[in-house]
Amino acid sequence: MITSDTKATLSFSDGSAPLEMPIYKGSIGPDVIDIRKLYAATGMFTYDPGFMSTAACNSAITYIDGDKGELLYRGYPIEQLAAKGDFLESCYLLLNGELPNLTQKKEFDYLVSRHTMVHEQMQFFFRGFRRDAHPMSVLVGTVGALASFYHDSLDINDPHHREVSAIRLIAKMPTLVAMAYKYSVGQPFVYPKNELSFSANFMRMMFSTPCEDYPVNDVLVRALDRILILHADHEQNASTSTVRLAGSSGANPFACIAAGIACLWGPAHGGANEAALSMLEKIGSVDHIPEFIRQVKDKNSGVKLMGFGHRVYKNYDPRAKLMRETCYEVLAELGLANDPLFKLAMALEKIALEDEYFVTRKLYPNVDFYSGIVQRALGIPTALFTGIFAMARTVGWVAQWKEMISDPEQKIGRPRQLFIGEPVRTVKPIESR
Ligand code: SDX
Repeated sequence: MITSDTKATLSFSDGSAPLEMPIYKGSIGPDVIDIRKLYAATGMFTYDPGFMSTAACNSAITYIDGDKGELLYRGYPIEQLAAKGDFLESCYLLLNGELPNLTQKKEFDYLVSRHTMVHEQMQFFFRGFRRDAHPMSVLVGTVGALASFYHDSLDINDPHHREVSAIRLIAKMPTLVAMAYKYSVGQPFVYPKNELSFSANFMRMMFSTPCEDYPVNDVLVRALDRILILHADHEQNASTSTVRLAGSSGANPFACIAAGIACLWGPAHGGANEAALSMLEKIGSVDHIPEFIRQVKDKNSGVKLMGFGHRVYKNYDPRAKLMRETCYEVLAELGLANDPLFKLAMALEKIALEDEYFVTRKLYPNVDFYSGIVQRALGIPTALFTGIFAMARTVGWVAQWKEMISDPEQKIGRPRQLFIGEPVRTVKPIESR
């Protein structure tokens, strides 16, 4: 962080003494005003519900330029990473800050593949769920429960423990997501097979059975791998901020990631891909689009165009472009190029991008708009879409958690409030209330 030679001066209309605050410059992106001494100096807090103008930390991991529609992992554009590498290469980059060379990549792939199994007793947690439990409820429970098996790596102040927990979480999420799916369809769990790639291993755990193996289709595996790369990290989004806040109390990494999964579940966040597909199925056909758009514009309807809009992107989400390409490739590979839902999505996107309601509000498709169609084509059930998002985002959460733990500036997160409730008053005896 570089202190800039410009300062911010806060002046008050009631004649109170103005307050000078330092401005810091990042390597790219907006500068920040350091307000840490504001309360001590003025007895006042800042007020920023939703943190629209608040930087909660400094970070070197992911950078988003919402106006340009740019997304960088450790400085590398997402378009290049998605085109040239696989998910584990992006995992290595997000965790370590640099792209791996051939030896490092081989060692990392080997390390992750050796942690893909879960403790045999984990299966008993699944038995307690209803078969129709939402996979995200299963993942919140089972990821949190992982902490009960790894007492050897819960000391967050031990760098080796942090490293081992990071690999365990990245490696075991596909196994747990596949187990949640198998449990929901009443099929036996499928163990990981270490000679397969990360994404091929997941597809096999999902779709093979004891009666017949899953023939790995490279186009479909590549598509899933690209989905994982696109969802791997996204700076201080709601679920990452949840992981950081949980981690700031010293909670173990499994508990922190379980908290992130819980936050990601929300339809305004990671649940949007599931909601976007349900929305497309509900619209049904192109001629129903005008009526749907009318409902979206009617604030009282509570209807939102799921998969559109973003807190940061006020231009096209670069991931949405890549997701649309992947959608086209997968549907072509499966002979579904005329998939009605894909056609409907493209028609809806075209109409929305030309409609002044969306244009003036800078509402563009985000990563979730097409990801549901791709995942449905891959055979992934709608209820599992957010579980796939969690499987991808685990590396981002873990990388951000590790960065926070080793940040000398980090303290337990404890925001304040503007209190608008009752001032102090006396309890009356119940008879006289
Ligand atoms: C993800 O933060 C991240 O980085 C998240 C994420 C990640 O990788 O971690 O990118 C993943 O969560 C993507 C977003 C997925 N969510 C959805 O697709 C759900 C639908 N989108 C919205 O709920 C909404 O756009 C949010 C939650 C994403 C953003 O909410 P904001 O910041 O409140 O939206 P805004 O301030 O830009 O809204 C401006 C206006 C408002 O209307 P007015 O009050 O000005 O009249 O646009 C409206 C909003 O009501 N609006 C929408 C809309 N999104 C915003 N109207 C209709 N449909 C929408 N989708």
